[in-house]
Amino acid sequence: MEVVYKDLLSRINIQTVVAGFTTLLILVYFTKDLRRNLPPGPWGLPVVGILPFVGNQPQKSFMKLAEKYGSVFSAYLGTKLVVFVNDYKSMKQMFAKSGDTFNDRPKLIVIDQISHGKGIASGYLHLNLKEKRRFGMKMLRSFGMGKSSFESTIVNEIDYMKARLMQVADTKVRYDPKHIIENGVSNVTCGIVFGKRYEYDDPQFKRFLSILYANLEIVSQSGALNFIPFMRFIPGSGWNKVFRNVEMFVNEFINFELEEHARTIQVHKPRDFIDEFLKARSELESSGENVDAFDDESAIHIVAELFIAGTETTATTLKWTLLYLALNPEIQAKVHQELDSVTGRRQLPTLKDQPKLVYCEAVMMEVTRIRPAVPLGVAHCTVNDTMYKEHFIPKSTTVIPNIWAVMHDKMTWPKPEEFRPERFIDGNGKLIKYEELIPFSVGRRSCIGEQLARMELYLFFTHLLHHFQFTLPTDKSKPSTYPHVGATLTPSPYDLIITKRTC
Ligand code: HEM
Repeated sequence: MEVVYKDLLSRINIQTVVAGFTTLLILVYFTKDLRRNLPPGPWGLPVVGILPFVGNQPQKSFMKLAEKYGSVFSAYLGTKLVVFVNDYKSMKQMFAKSGDTFNDRPKLIVIDQISHGKGIASGYLHLNLKEKRRFGMKMLRSFGMGKSSFESTIVNEIDYMKARLMQVADTKVRYDPKHIIENGVSNVTCGIVFGKRYEYDDPQFKRFLSILYANLEIVSQSGALNFIPFMRFIPGSGWNKVFRNVEMFVNEFINFELEEHARTIQVHKPRDFIDEFLKARSELESSGENVDAFDDESAIHIVAELFIAGTETTATTLKWTLLYLALNPEIQAKVHQELDSVTGRRQLPTLKDQPKLVYCEAVMMEVTRIRPAVPLGVAHCTVNDTMYKEHFIPKSTTVIPNIWAVMHDKMTWPKPEEFRPERFIDGNGKLIKYEELIPFSVGRRSCIGEQLARMELYLFFTHLLHHFQFTLPTDKSKPSTYPHVGATLTPSPYDLIITKRTC
């Protein structure tokens, strides 16, 4: 016995000890989450997690994983533990019915370094988020959101757009509507926030828009930089470019407007959102109250985020709308038919007509379903340790709502990749309002610009269709509806042939 024991001991050398210890560490690493009873999910690789397997359509990859592991599953994206939510009921339960538990924003390194959690969309709960959100909503309402008086402001912008489109209409010239849509939609937000609009040829504004779009591409919350922070040290990671762009955007555009407003404000006649913001701050200051929610840094990020959120999402939705209508001439013909019979050729559609324009409404709904502008929402984060159903979710876990998965759930929407507005109309010709249609998300962090966006989408869409017919060039293959995933879900560039509709 003693001989066997000695023999065994003599064979244990340093390599054996290291190998054993490494195996133990690996076992501990891979089983730690099993022991914590997290929602099930794929293991992924150390350091990068499942990032290398997500591909260029992360929303679809997560939906596939949900089929395997359940609609609420967990995995590591880079070094971050993430819970992915792929069904409507769980989103509603977490974001609307669980208080603040699931409603903070995670510390994603790029976004955190830009705004320090001081905006609204990027806002951390402990940095006066509720006060800022309340103020933001109140101001959007007071400057017109949901008010028919604001209708004429939007229609005014559509008139500029129409004038531009008239120049190419009936010429058979191919026209990419990207810039005009982005600039036009952005002008509606600019009217509310800065009290001004920018000409479609303004080189300075064109530059700001292109900086903005370039940055959104890199900063995109699903981008690797946010989940593998050390990547920022790798040349070409985009880190330096992002911050150079932010500096330019903030200094030359946002700060310029803030300073100009501070110089010219008349407190009793606030012209726009910025004036109201400055006024609210000075009122708090004079009554000796806390002004943290209205400090300079918050001003920059709230204003920048309203501008960004109000431009990119609505413009993207309109780009998809024109593309789907050009690809589906029979659907476009039905839109024209409904507009002509409800409002007539001599009158433009108004907000009052909206309840009667059932088919138009169904088209808008179908566009926001099939190509939700923000397919993975904006990442949420848990405020404390919590349980969801029988699973444990630790404090500070990132929670990603897969809005795409909800909108492509075969149980609610049969043949989800088919563009079929009729799915929103019942046998009596009435609109079906599905609660699962959630392009603006749900709950306490849901979009504060929803009403404004709906108003804009309705008016831009119905007016443009009243004036024009949109077709595709016949000498080129049809554009694809395959989505490009950046900060939002965008179509690849496409050209249209624009024809005036006769009276
Ligand atoms: C079609 C247009 C739009 C879509 C699809 C959209 C969608 C969304 C979504 C999915 C979120 C994330 C909600 C969440 O975290 O659960 C969001 C947040 C937000 N949206 Fe929109 N949005 C649109 C237009 C607008 C407009 C026009 C504005 C303002 C001018 C706006 C301002 C915001 C803000 C400030 C937040 C952050 C809310 C918070 O963090 O509490 N959005 N939006």
